[in-house]
Amino acid sequence: MTGYVALRGDRISRVYGTRRTAFTAVKPVDFEVNSESAIGIVGESGSGKSTLTRMLVGLERVTTGSVTYNAAPITRFIQTHAGRLDFRRAVQFVGQDTSSSFDPRRTLRDSVATPLKVLLGSTGSEAEDRIVEVLRLLQLDPAQLRRYPGEVSGGQRQRFALARALVVRPRILLCDEVVSALDVSVQGAVLNVIKEYRETNQVGLAFVSHGLPATSFLARELVVMCRGEIVERGETAQVLHEPRHPYTAKLLGASLRRRRVAAR
Ligand SMILES: Nc1ncnc2c1ncn2[C@@H]1O[C@H](COP(=O)(O)OP(=O)(O)O)[C@@H](O)[C@H]1O
Ligand SMILES: [Mg+2]
Repeated sequence: MTGYVALRGDRISRVYGTRRTAFTAVKPVDFEVNSESAIGIVGESGSGKSTLTRMLVGLERVTTGSVTYNAAPITRFIQTHAGRLDFRRAVQFVGQDTSSSFDPRRTLRDSVATPLKVLLGSTGSEAEDRIVEVLRLLQLDPAQLRRYPGEVSGGQRQRFALARALVVRPRILLCDEVVSALDVSVQGAVLNVIKEYRETNQVGLAFVSHGLPATSFLARELVVMCRGEIVERGETAQVLHEPRHPYTAKLLGASLRRRRVAAR
């Protein structure tokens, strides 16, 4: 699939709980990711990053506002089987909890091959070739495909989750803390793969992380979230070097301090 695609949230917000316990996780925000994006979403834990991205892909209900895919409401896509398939072919999401995103009773091969079969009708040696190609990119051993998700390390499972998303060649990829659980030694390798993959495959990227270095490595544009609000957005270099919001400056300071401590 080629051509420009866009996923937009207009004034989307999310309130959790009942009226008495109401808690606003995301205040009304506008957000767009398209097939040309390279957006990093940063902010400390609890700032609403996951809720925002999950609303965009229809995994979380919006309390107000609307999400559109190529200007059509995504509710239309996620209500019908054909619509869901269309949407999932174009937009793939990799979440932060891979232990629950794989079916423990199915082998990794099964899990990675299913989207190819269901979304693209690709099976047999054609599917196998694509799977092996993506696994190689992610530095995964194809021999592990016969294993079950519980039999590989968390870091490997995280990369299998990325493989499962990439095999179908999505136009937009949303990643929520995909390197946070990885060993520092493989974090860099996986970030490189994502970066190179985006540049060579024209896939739009929205990359969520509480780690600023990882995010700014991948993103041309940064969005900073604080307590459910987007407090700053702009070109990565501008946000890093001339933060406009005090919270961004604080986040940058914390990240620098962590690196200094690590370097000691
Ligand atoms: N299902 C839920 N029920 C109630 N509160 C939630 C739920 N999911 C997230 N929250 C709350 O919403 C806020 C934002 O969470 P989240 O989007 O996960 O932030 P982040 O990804 O930036 O850490 C947090 O205070 C969190 O506790
Ligand atoms: Mg999160």
